[in-house]
Amino acid sequence: MLTAVVLFYFTIASTAGKASSCIPRERDALLAFKAGVTAPGDELRSWQSLDCCKWSGVACSNKTLHVIKLDVSQFALNGKINSSLAALTRLVYLNLSQNDFGGMAIPEFVGSLKKLKYLDLSRANFVERSLLSLVICQHSSILI
Ligand SMILES: *[C@@H]1O[C@H](CO)[C@@H](O)[C@H](O)[C@H]1NC(C)=O
Ligand SMILES: *[C@@H]1O[C@H](CO)[C@@H](O)[C@H](O)[C@H]1NC(C)=O
Ligand SMILES: *[C@@H]1O[C@H](CO)[C@@H](O)[C@H](O)[C@H]1NC(C)=O
Repeated sequence: MLTAVVLFYFTIASTAGKASSCIPRERDALLAFKAGVTAPGDELRSWQSLDCCKWSGVACSNKTLHVIKLDVSQFALNGKINSSLAALTRLVYLNLSQNDFGGMAIPEFVGSLKKLKYLDLSRANFVERSLLSLVICQHSSILI
């Protein structure tokens, strides 16, 4: 009996440490983003499995497993961007192009993503005066 219990825990521990799963905090952030939008097509259908690194439009670092790329361009999303995405602190590439965010301001957290190098906000229906919030992203290549 004891052996069975120990084995059980060992199995859980080794599954949890498996290199193929994404970081739970980042998965939660992506799920909160998903909850705030609707996708007319099937683009977000994969956004439910445990390993968010395998979701469509998401890419993780092979080494750290942090999400480094989020490309939801052409998903034709409707809705608002949840600031939960601020948790994706290692993001290098963010493409929100060709969606409809309903004339919302560009979320301030975008300016806090220190590793961001590529940012595409074009044709996504953001209110224009909110561009000021991007001044912080001096090193980024920004398409609006
Ligand atoms: C962002 O997501 C969280 C968690 O799902 C939710 O509680 C919150 O209301 C959302 N915020 C917005 C602005 O949608
Ligand atoms: C990460 O691994 C995937 C699949 O094994 C591979 O296609 C990709 O090129 C790798 N990325 C890097 C940056 O090494
Ligand atoms: C963002 O996505 C659009 C459409 O898929 C693509 O044309 C554009 O080049 C992408 N932007 C960047 C910075 O990669």
